[in-house]
Amino acid sequence: MSLSCGIDIGGTKIAGGVVDEKGRILARLRAESPASDSEAIAATVTSLVTELAREHAVEHVGVGAAGFVDAGRSTVLFAPNLAWRDEPLGSELAQRLGLPVVVENDANAAAWGEFVFGAGRDLDLADMLLVTVGTGVGGGIIADGELRRGAFGIAAEIGHLRLVHGGRLCGCGSHGCWEQYASGSALVRRAREDAACGSLLAAPLLERAGGDPAAIEGPLITELAQAGDPFCVEQLEELGTWLGEGISSLVSVLDPGLVVVGGGVSAAGDLLLGPLRGRFAHTLSGRGYRPAAEIRLAELGNDAGMIGAADLARR
Ligand code: BGC
Ligand code: NA
Ligand code: ZN
Repeated sequence: MSLSCGIDIGGTKIAGGVVDEKGRILARLRAESPASDSEAIAATVTSLVTELAREHAVEHVGVGAAGFVDAGRSTVLFAPNLAWRDEPLGSELAQRLGLPVVVENDANAAAWGEFVFGAGRDLDLADMLLVTVGTGVGGGIIADGELRRGAFGIAAEIGHLRLVHGGRLCGCGSHGCWEQYASGSALVRRAREDAACGSLLAAPLLERAGGDPAAIEGPLITELAQAGDPFCVEQLEELGTWLGEGISSLVSVLDPGLVVVGGGVSAAGDLLLGPLRGRFAHTLSGRGYRPAAEIRLAELGNDAGMIGAADLARR
């Protein structure tokens, strides 16, 4: 059985795993993402793969990268939340590792992983949209059973749909992008702002963060929301609402059979999905007179990108 190494490079974490042909993870490692230093990113990935390949006969490496990857699946042209600018990541890693390397956009890789091994596995209709919610908001489009890369490799940059005229400045250089409102970073930013302003509702969260607003992170918000904390429940509602709003526009364009929501924030489950579905149902054009996509959580959770990248590398 041929083994691939799948690597998922995000804005905060780099995850790596040895993945078999059935999409099973045989071994895994994780490291912090040195987001502001592209040389350090390549070095971290190299050491993760080297370590993983010590115990397993890895034949190819698939890298899911949180940025605009060129049509040759090698160079990262640009990344809003990492240091890459025209970065020859694929050739750099291939040289360091002595293995074939395929670079794919992280959300595209996650879409592929979910389509082949996860939520889209039993899909009758081969049209699926994946929305990944983490540091940024990423997208992957499967149309007619194939990953859509666009003319230049950079299709489905859905996090940069401009939803708010004159809105917040985004890492991509534009204002009002969806990911400024619907990402895990946006969730954390809003919660920190309220906590720092002395919001009474946010007091229990702030206390759990040791009194330091900057110590508030997404998993803590999710944990407290699951325990019924009203402020944290509200924060996830707000995030879900923003997601539902954007997804209904995307469904108008793509008409997928299934929308899969993944990324770190999907750990919040129904606390996120409930408000998301609600907003979707209330904003979809032609609602009530059309069939509409089902919306589900990623089955592979945060591993979708790693598994998808590994699979793309062997094809
Ligand atoms: C980037 C995408 C990426 C997404 C999720 C966005 O900011 O533009 O390339 O897929 O974040 O990581
Ligand atoms: Na994408
Ligand atoms: Zn943007």
